[in-house]
Amino acid sequence: MDEGLTAEEREIIDDMPSRLAAFSKERGMLIPILQMIQDTLAYLPPEVIAIVADYLDLTESDVYGVATFYNQFRFNPPGKNPIKVCLGTACHVKGGDIILENFERKLEIEEGETTSDREFSIERVACVGCCAIAPVALVGETVHGNMAPSKVEGLILRIHVEKEKEEREKQKE
Ligand code: FES
Repeated sequence: MDEGLTAEEREIIDDMPSRLAAFSKERGMLIPILQMIQDTLAYLPPEVIAIVADYLDLTESDVYGVATFYNQFRFNPPGKNPIKVCLGTACHVKGGDIILENFERKLEIEEGETTSDREFSIERVACVGCCAIAPVALVGETVHGNMAPSKVEGLILRIHVEKEKEEREKQKE
């Protein structure tokens, strides 16, 4: 659902050949290279996968194969409001997957994706340590406990309202 790269990302990707020059052209360098890119861009865009494959003389599917094996790599930019839905045992038992589905339906993206305006991304996570208030979802760093499907829409709406308020205040300045 990503609409494309930001100007800043484009600039970093254009500069990628010189960043890669710090790494030797060995297959063993693949993970450190992917880590460097994720540290810089916060995710691995497809354009970069192609550049890395070319640099290490691998196919793009080789690079994807390795990158998807590790949970640390993401392929979509994180949203400004990253939503994490806990699917640890306690949250799962209390319907965490229904909460996840509701977020997916309301935002029209799947888990692991980001909305095209980059406002929201959805991820599933393991126990976040607040089982007493399961099921739990996090928006950014804020924990929302005792989640219910009916609360999902309100949460998203609140974020939209706060954003509009911020924008109005910025315009006044
Ligand atoms: S299982 Fe969700 S907070 Fe522990």
